[in-house]
Amino acid sequence: MGRGGIQVPGPEWADLGESGLEPKERGFSRRRALKWLIRLGYGTFAFAFALPAFALRSLQTERTETAQGDPLVRASGTQGGNAGDPIAATDLAEGDSVQVFPQGKTDNSLNLIQVVRIAAGEGAEGLVAYSAICTHLGCPVYEELNEDGQIACPCHGSRFDPANDAAVSGGPANRPLPSIPVGVAADGTLVVSGGFSGPIGPE
Ligand code: FES
Repeated sequence: MGRGGIQVPGPEWADLGESGLEPKERGFSRRRALKWLIRLGYGTFAFAFALPAFALRSLQTERTETAQGDPLVRASGTQGGNAGDPIAATDLAEGDSVQVFPQGKTDNSLNLIQVVRIAAGEGAEGLVAYSAICTHLGCPVYEELNEDGQIACPCHGSRFDPANDAAVSGGPANRPLPSIPVGVAADGTLVVSGGFSGPIGPE
C-alpha cells in the first residue's frame, strides 16, 4: 500500500515471490539444494569409476590361470598339427619353437606359453618354456624364432634369448620373459610342471 496516497514500492527483499519464503529461508533452501547437487555429483563420479573397476575385477577373477599338471596343447596349427592338439616332446626338433596353451584355458591370453627346443635330449631335457607375452607392453611374441635363434616381439622389436633364460637381447623390454617348467607325461606329451618365475607381461 502507498503512504499518504503515494504508491511506494516495497523493498526488493520484501517480495516473497511464489515460494512464500523469507529471503533468509530462500538462501538456506538454495544452499541445501547446492549441497545436494554436489553430493549427487560426487556420487555419480564415484559410481562412474567404481563400475568399470568392478567389471574389470570380475573379469580378472573369472580368468583361468596356468596350473601345475595342465596338459599343453597347440595354440594354433601354424607349426604343425591343429589348434588344441596335444604336443609331444619328440615333436620338436632342435631350434623349433611352438606356442601352446594349458588345455581348456585359452580364455586367458596371459596363459600363452612358448616352448623351444634349445638342445637335443630325452623327455623334457633340452626344452625350455617361457611366457609368450612380451614384458615391454604385452604383445604376444612371434611363434617362430628369428634368424638369430631369438624370440622376437612384433610390436617394438624386443628380443629374448631362449638359451639364456629369455634374457633381453635387444629392443625396449627391460625384463626377461618369465620361465615356466614343463615336463613330459607317461604318453610323451608336454604338461606344466610348475609356476611362472615372475609376473607375466609388463609390470
Ligand atoms: S610389446 Fe614387445 S617390444 Fe613392445
